[in-house]
Amino acid sequence: MAEQGEYDLLHHGDREVGDGLVDLAVNVRLAAPPEWLRRELADTLSGLAAYPDVRGAVEAVAARHGRPPSEVLPTAGAAEAFTLLASAFRGRNAVVVHPQFTEPEAALRAAGQAVRRVVLPAADGFVLTPDAVPADAELVFVGNPTNPTSVLHPAQALRQLCAPGRLVVVDEAFLDAVPGEPESLAGQRLPGVVVLRSLTKTWGIAGLRAGYVLGEPEVLDRLRAVQPPWSVSTPAAVAMVACSRPDAVAEANRLAREADRDRERLVEGLRGLGVEVAGVPRAPFVLVRVPGAGRVRLALREAGYAVRRGDTFPGLDGDWLRIAVRDRETTDRFLAALADTLT
Ligand SMILES: Cc1ncc(COP(=O)(O)O)c(C=O)c1O
Repeated sequence: MAEQGEYDLLHHGDREVGDGLVDLAVNVRLAAPPEWLRRELADTLSGLAAYPDVRGAVEAVAARHGRPPSEVLPTAGAAEAFTLLASAFRGRNAVVVHPQFTEPEAALRAAGQAVRRVVLPAADGFVLTPDAVPADAELVFVGNPTNPTSVLHPAQALRQLCAPGRLVVVDEAFLDAVPGEPESLAGQRLPGVVVLRSLTKTWGIAGLRAGYVLGEPEVLDRLRAVQPPWSVSTPAAVAMVACSRPDAVAEANRLAREADRDRERLVEGLRGLGVEVAGVPRAPFVLVRVPGAGRVRLALREAGYAVRRGDTFPGLDGDWLRIAVRDRETTDRFLAALADTLT
């Protein structure tokens, strides 16, 4: 288990973009929300005098995942859920499975929590081994698929993490980007499991802050008790309704299949350049190991491309980069630029 604190947990891909660079650093899939969603969001403007009412969003999300409304809590993005969990379950013996998105650990620390890290080794393809989580862990955070490794853990391995007196938090922020949403626990009521979902990546609405928690009503009551009032805005609640409709879910699935094909092209190109791609990537981003990645990242910036540094993720060092999957033309141009930096 690694020692604490030596990583910049507050670093995110959005700090690496700008200056006209082609963005392969941020994992938001669309450059803008689709037209149908933009129209629905625009229609909310005239109603903004009223305080938000999330009941419609709760019903819609519940129907989308086949769960009762009492098992749904809308949040201001999946990120808010980390803060709510850290605050509501303060004092629990917390373990974060790394490498993963750093906000869960940052939220725990901000709440004054001690955090233990379980680091999944690169040599094993960053695959979850349930035994690696200490038996006394009472609050466990794991991502599925995991950012930045892109590994999708089997639902069975996640279920094995369940234990009496333990709350397992499965961050499924990217699962709608995996065709068919395999290995998801979102549709099941499992004692001691909460699932986090995000709408921001697939729908290009990171600026809106829309996500939700699925879990047992007693757990959600505790989160609701520490959630700031009206935390989820009217437009975010409308986005939850819109993105939960069957045709939106089908569109997300089409986008996910497209991303799968684009990722295969990226992975093939990377391997063709002799670049090591970690694990078995299933999400719309890949983690790569390139000796001297820091130099490569800067050379790519010179060439007009932003990729995300990997060394701010606990468990990774300066040889890792995360690359977002984009359309094939962008991918091909990026691979050509990368080839130049590697020669
Ligand atoms: C794995 C993971 N979980 C959660 C989030 C937060 O998502 P949201 O925008 O819904 O707050 C992110 C954002 O990058 C993420 O990468």
